[in-house]
Order: sequence, then C-alpha cells, then structure tokens
Amino acid sequence: MTNMQNIMLAIQTDLSQHAPRAEADLCELLRIPSVSAISAHAPDIQRAADWLHGYFRDLGYQSAIHATPGHPIVLARTPAVDGAITVLVYGHYDVQPPDPLGQWISPPFEPTVRQGNLFARGATDDKGQFLTHVQSAASWTRTAGAPPVNLIFLIEGEEEIGSPNLVPFLQRHASELACDVAVISDTSQFAPDLPAITYGLRGIAYYELTLTGPRQDLHSGTFGGGVTNPANVLVKILGNLHDSHGRVAIPGFYDAVVPLTDRERQEYAQLPFTDQAFFEQVGVSGAFGEAGYTTLERRWARPTCDINGLTSGYQGEGAKTVLPARASAKFSFRLVPRQDPHALSASLREWIAEQIPAGITWELTDFHGAPGVLVSLDSPYVACAQRAIEQGFGRAPVFIREGGSIPIVGDFKEILGVDTLLLGWGQNDDNMHSPNEKFSLADYHRGIRASAALWEEFAKLPRPAGKGNV
Ligand code: BES
Ligand code: ZN
Repeated sequence: MTNMQNIMLAIQTDLSQHAPRAEADLCELLRIPSVSAISAHAPDIQRAADWLHGYFRDLGYQSAIHATPGHPIVLARTPAVDGAITVLVYGHYDVQPPDPLGQWISPPFEPTVRQGNLFARGATDDKGQFLTHVQSAASWTRTAGAPPVNLIFLIEGEEEIGSPNLVPFLQRHASELACDVAVISDTSQFAPDLPAITYGLRGIAYYELTLTGPRQDLHSGTFGGGVTNPANVLVKILGNLHDSHGRVAIPGFYDAVVPLTDRERQEYAQLPFTDQAFFEQVGVSGAFGEAGYTTLERRWARPTCDINGLTSGYQGEGAKTVLPARASAKFSFRLVPRQDPHALSASLREWIAEQIPAGITWELTDFHGAPGVLVSLDSPYVACAQRAIEQGFGRAPVFIREGGSIPIVGDFKEILGVDTLLLGWGQNDDNMHSPNEKFSLADYHRGIRASAALWEEFAKLPRPAGKGNV
C-alpha cells in the first residue's frame, strides 16, 4: 500500500470519529444570524467572520479578516506545499433573511435535526456546504500535518447581496490569490444520490421600481378617476414584462443569448426528471413558461424575469377604499451567457419611460447585476472532481447547469484567469432562501469525504509552470 493510500484510510477513520464534532461546528456557525441584507445584523455578520477566523487559526492556518466598505472577507491559507497546485476555495458565510418567520417548523437560527436533515437558515446555502471543505482540510491537518495542496479559503459575507465589494478585493489581492483552479460548493446535486458537477449558472439583474402619484393616500371614491393610481400603472407595466408566449418583452432582451446546443438538449432530456414530480415538489398543478423549451431548459439555460416583491395600498385586515400614493415592485432577471446586465438596465429604463402616464413620477433602483457563466469541462481538474465525487458519494456525477447565480464565478475567470469547479452537495428541495432550509447530514459527510479525496486527486497533478506560485 502506498503512503497516500494509508493516509486516505487514516482520513476515513478520522472523519468517522470526528463526525459529531463536524456537526457541532456547523451548528455553532448556523446559530449566528449573519443576514447580509439587513443592517441590524451587522454585529452578527462580524461574529460569523470572527468565528471562521478563529477556526482557521485554531487549525494553524494563516488567516485574516479583511474589512471592506460592506461586510468583512475572511481569507485563510493552509501551510505551503512546494510543487503542489493552489486551489481557491470560495464560500459565503452570509445568509438570506429568514422571512416568512411563521412558516418555520423550528426557529431559523436554532439548528434542529429531523429525519437526518439539519434545519436552519444557511444550512445548505452556504454554511454547511463550504464548511465541508474546511472540515476536509482539518482532517488532512490532523492526519497528515497539512492538506497535500495549497488551499486558499476566501469566505465572504456579501454573496446574498450581489458581492459588491469582492471584485475590488480580487483586483487588489490578485497576486496573493494566484491559483490554478477555484472550487465552490454552493449548488445542488441533481437528485438524491445523484451528485452533479455544474458547468453553467445564470446571471442576474435586480431592480426596484417605485411609482409615485398624489402627495398622500386618497379616498378612492372621491378621487378615483381623477387621479392616476400608481398601483394601476405599476401592474400594467409589470404585466407587459412578458408576452403571451412567456418571453420577456423588453426590446433586444434576447439579442446576445447563447442558444442551447443540440447536445445539451439531448443530455438534459436523458436526466431522470419529470414535470409531474417537479410540480409535486413545489406544490403546483402545472406551469406556464417560455414556449418551445422544457422545464430544465427554462430553469437552467433560458433568461427569465420574476417579480420578487410587491408593495402598495392597504395590506391589513378587511377592505379599505384607498387610492395609494405609491406603488413599488422588486423584480429581477436571470440572465444567460453573453447577456449584459448593464445593457439591460439601459433598455429597461427606456422601456419603462415610454409607459409612464401623466401624474406619475418614477424611480428605478439598480441593486446588482452579474453575467451568466459557463465553465470549461475540459480540464484535468474536472477529471479529479469526478473521481473525488465518486469516492465521497459512491456514484459518478452528472453534468448539469443550474438557474441560480454566484456572481463572483465570472470574475475568477476574468481577474484570476481560472475556471471554477461547482461541486454542489445540496438538494433541490433543501429550501434555499425559503422557510425550513435544510441540509442532509449524510450529504454533509459525503461532501466532506469527496472534498478530502479531491485534495488527494489534486496532489497527484503536476503543477503548471508559473501559476499559483507559493
Ligand atoms: N447558492 C446560491 C446560488 C445557487 C442557487 C446556485 C441555486 C444554484 C442553484 C447563492 O447563494 C445565491 O442565492 N445567489 C444569489 C445571488 C444574487 C443575490 C446576486 C441568487 O442566485 O439569487
Ligand atoms: Zn443564496
């Protein structure tokens, strides 16, 4: 038996012994309500960053908390291994707001295990997932003194608000962050017991449109008909976002879209997926979407627009005859490769301006945007990931795209020149961003094992000259 095989066996044993501790670690982090979108949670954001920093320091890794104009970034690295590649592991310690609170079976920041699943906000997105890589590195450290490759952990606190401060950070620290490949676990498997490597993510462009009419709310009987109602106008504009074929109606919206290839369409059609099971999962009897595409195609590789929040008029109990002074909507587009969020903002403004009648003023807030990405599958790193996943999950991964966004992936390519491996350990029904978010403890431990194997697979690669030098 080779030395490496001995170490891998020792790591398996270490991970089994350490499993309860690995779960307790995750629960500690999940108890911190690090909601990035809500400013009152700033101290919790700081606590989460401190927790990670302390964790890395306790492992003997170099670690620092970098302040930004927003939330801090934790950057840590494992002891240098000469002649091995450098891997950038990205994750985010911030979470989405837990609303609607009343729908949680157990409180969002009191991690609770039910039927093998750990329920808490951030369980799968992304604390549980990125922690698998920290746990695997820790196991290598306990077993062999250090992981066999150079790992840089870049864990940020603003992913859920569009990563506004991460690009400047990448630019400023580009040489420190030089690496050969990036690894992110913040996506999902295709199905239970069917792990996946994701090669495409959609981008995003997020807006809020506020329409203002009269100075204050008015009696709808006295004033209705004489005053333009901003809520009436808003729903008309929102209704115009799509045509009757389910296509987005903003001029030029589809111009740059990279079409699905025939091969992709054939491959998606072969995945074990039925509309019926999907509809049952989300509790609907059917769906309307862009004509000419299957459900998976629409969710993964076609651009969309969805309203995310609507505010206007009387929301309390019973009826109130009011003509509201204001109406607003939050809405966002999911973009596919080559669509440019900036170009969309410009055409959206023009398109809205044409629809504003007399008596209404409007304001469009541009929250954040990121382009869609496709990552190359043609690299030795992908082959390593395939083998590692097979070791951790007992099954080879399928290759998929997903509909969510991880804004920094495109910047890793542009600024650092590296492709990202998107290795999702979650499940589609883990309730990311929804009540009762969960992460299967089995997936947590399988993710840790796959990650431990990934470092070993990477260690066998020759280091490409001139890249990722330490
Ligand atoms: N983990 C998700 C990204 C994701 C979701 C990937 C579903 C694949 C499938 C990530 O934390 C996320 O939610 N990103 C935001 C980004 C946005 C706020 C800029 C998203 O997709 O809404
Ligand atoms: Zn998320």
